[in-house]
Amino acid sequence: MGKDVIIACDFASAEKTFEFLDKFTGRKPFVKIGMELFYAAGPEIVREIKRRGHKIFLDLKLHDIPNTVKKAMAVLSGLDVDVCNLHAGGTSAMMTAALEGLTRADGTRPLLIAVTQLTSTDQQSMERDLLIKEPIDEVVMHYAETAKNAGLDGVVCSPLEAGKVHERCGADFLTVTPGVRFADGEVGDQKRVMTPADAKKVGSDYIVVGRPITQAADPVAAYERCVSEFVD
Ligand code: C5P
Repeated sequence: MGKDVIIACDFASAEKTFEFLDKFTGRKPFVKIGMELFYAAGPEIVREIKRRGHKIFLDLKLHDIPNTVKKAMAVLSGLDVDVCNLHAGGTSAMMTAALEGLTRADGTRPLLIAVTQLTSTDQQSMERDLLIKEPIDEVVMHYAETAKNAGLDGVVCSPLEAGKVHERCGADFLTVTPGVRFADGEVGDQKRVMTPADAKKVGSDYIVVGRPITQAADPVAAYERCVSEFVD
């Protein structure tokens, strides 16, 4: 799969989501569906967005015992999503089981990527709450390598980490990077950001962009700007 821009459809209802997606009359963007929308609108919204011709990254970040994750992944695979994810913190056994659950009878499966340490976790909270004492950058890289060794396709990470992940895990190991802002745009609550053009330079494979597109006066123009900076 080549480089692409994924729009984070962080809307609270199916109605608001379709009102947004209806604006895209030309090229159908790759969309990310997160917990809020999935829990509000259910699996039917995944089917409907797929029917409309979009690729889908279903961002549900699974984390449970291997057998439970395997069975849940089999259900998500049946929804025909293109990318789904889990927490690498569930360990290799959980990741291997997830891959088994995702793989369809014909051998195909959605891409599976891992969340390493959440970007909301910092060194202090990791040491205090998780009793992990290593430097957080090392922990993130270790989780990425564990995901790679379990057979996963990539990780969600900051664009600032994309280059290092590729060095450690190989050029083919996907980096899917949120925290993207236009040079002249609002940063909002994201702390460490990069422009689409810089994310391209550091080797991100996919950028996940939410508010700079969803809250723009002209979302289609904002999306096209992301595509021209990142992909073209
Ligand atoms: O609106 P914004 O561009 O900040 O949206 C980024 C999207 O990526 C949101 O859906 C957010 O939950 C997600 N995300 C993130 N940082 C991570 C993991 C996911 O911003 N580390």
